[in-house]
Amino acid sequence: MSERREPEMCVLLESDWARGSLVDDVRRGLTRHPRTLPPRWLYDDHGSALFDRITRLPEYYPFNAERAILAAHADEIVSASGATTLVELGSGTSEKTRLLLDAFTGAGQLTRFAPVDVSEGTLREAAAQIADAYPGLEVVGVVGDFTLHLAHLPRGGRRMVAFLGGTIGNLYLEERSAFLGALADLLEPGDSVLLGTDLVKSTDRLIAAYNDEAGVTEEFIRNSLTVVNRELGADFDPGAFSYIPFWDAHMERIDMRLRAEVPQRVNVPGADLVLDLAVGEEIRVEISTKFRVSKIAAELEAAGLDVARVWTDEPGDFALTLAVKP
Ligand code: SAH
Ligand code: AVI
Repeated sequence: MSERREPEMCVLLESDWARGSLVDDVRRGLTRHPRTLPPRWLYDDHGSALFDRITRLPEYYPFNAERAILAAHADEIVSASGATTLVELGSGTSEKTRLLLDAFTGAGQLTRFAPVDVSEGTLREAAAQIADAYPGLEVVGVVGDFTLHLAHLPRGGRRMVAFLGGTIGNLYLEERSAFLGALADLLEPGDSVLLGTDLVKSTDRLIAAYNDEAGVTEEFIRNSLTVVNRELGADFDPGAFSYIPFWDAHMERIDMRLRAEVPQRVNVPGADLVLDLAVGEEIRVEISTKFRVSKIAAELEAAGLDVARVWTDEPGDFALTLAVKP
């Protein structure tokens, strides 16, 4: 029997970097209209735990839809990829990824698993659990930002880069094409990308998934202000904002905002910033773009990747696309 191997950790994000980068994001994002905050700041330890709760909400269908596709097709995905290294971007707890790891190890194909995430605590715990569950597998956890650190991903062997959960939909259009182009550029011929995307569906279901009865999504979005308070000494009163999720039919995305309910002056000393917010002013904290299968294929092809296979779940809620670098 193979022995458990301690996961190796590669930390590309130091805490100073995180604070400096938050300062830039806050200065740039909160002083323009609509005011914005990039979604990577949602995932401090509390935010990651809230996201985990979101995945168990009855209204939040994407998690189970993607899991159903993996449960039905992991063997085909693994053999179509021919990969010996699995890289996972925005890996979180890597819960669904175990379906791929099971298929990979069943086929005796995988030697290395490299989960990549900005949320260090969650990543360390996930990497340790995977190393326990898959003895003999080399696990390399990378604490990094997938919009900045793709060039530092482990090299060698045939790689499949999994980007699950629909997280690509949290990037803005221009970020998405830059990201896919950069990813395609660093892959070697024969390497592949497994991309999870949530699909366009009825507005009622979409809104319900991002405005759950229990209010967990609202807490998740509101937590962004708590992160800015903690990291930059700001004095946002999260209770002075209401949560406004809506479907932007033109951009085909859920837009999640916080709206000031009272006029307020917010001090952000760590970013040398004072913000005056009028009643009704909004901060966009996250978007979640929904896709059509043809659009995903077009974006992957435009980035220089060949679409090999597309799998959807039975109701057609979610898609997994395998694209190969020619
Ligand atoms: N892949 C998992 C988790 C999705 S939640 C799933 O399908 O359930 C999104 C994950 O991406 C979180 O773990 C978050 O910490 C991570 N993340 C968000 N922005 C990131 C970035 N710019 N770079 C790296 N990880 C990021
Ligand atoms: C991580 N990402 C795909 C989630 C989504 O559905 O866009 C984040 C999320 N935001 C609110 N609920 C879930």
